[in-house]
Amino acid sequence: MKRVVIFASGAGSNAENIIKYFENSSHVSVQKVFCNKKNAGVFDRCLHLNIACEWFSREEFSYSEVILNKLKDQADFIVLAGFLWKIPEPMVKAFPNKIINIHPALLPKYGGKGMYGMNVHKAVKDNLEKETGITIHFVNEHYDDGAIIFQAKTELETSDSPEDIAQKIHALEYKHFPKIIEETILKDG
Ligand code: GAR
Repeated sequence: MKRVVIFASGAGSNAENIIKYFENSSHVSVQKVFCNKKNAGVFDRCLHLNIACEWFSREEFSYSEVILNKLKDQADFIVLAGFLWKIPEPMVKAFPNKIINIHPALLPKYGGKGMYGMNVHKAVKDNLEKETGITIHFVNEHYDDGAIIFQAKTELETSDSPEDIAQKIHALEYKHFPKIIEETILKDG
């Protein structure tokens, strides 16, 4: 059984979708969720899903080995589902090609620091893009830069608001992210 730990910073709708997808899996088990924001919606979701959700501080995550050591004990794979902090280098080194992120745009477009959530969709709208999409990729030392595992596109109408774009992106995320996580883990053997 491969153990997955999810990191989230916000509403946690992807985290919920992933947890539900693997609920009855015989090869992947979601162990817990880690969250860096005390009042994030993901805590409530985890409560209802009966899965542990643990808050951690910047100090524990970025400047000490507290979270890294917990991960070494508890995780084979790490999934970033709307997680907004940069992954520290020792964590990347300890989990090479085992940290999977989802980004709500077609990288390398609309990636990098500050490009998350609605900021991405507003930029896509401002640039009059005719399409956008999702990118699922391995995490390396740089923001949104690791090897791409999967991308999917969606067409945009000129009338689409950033909120409409977010909705289209979420639909793609719910459809593909759990399956791609599963495939990636199974390929790893
Ligand atoms: C998702 O759209 C995810 O792709 C994005 O945040 C949203 C979280 O929604 N992630 C990033 O922007 C990371 N750079 P959720 O909390 O409902 O899953």
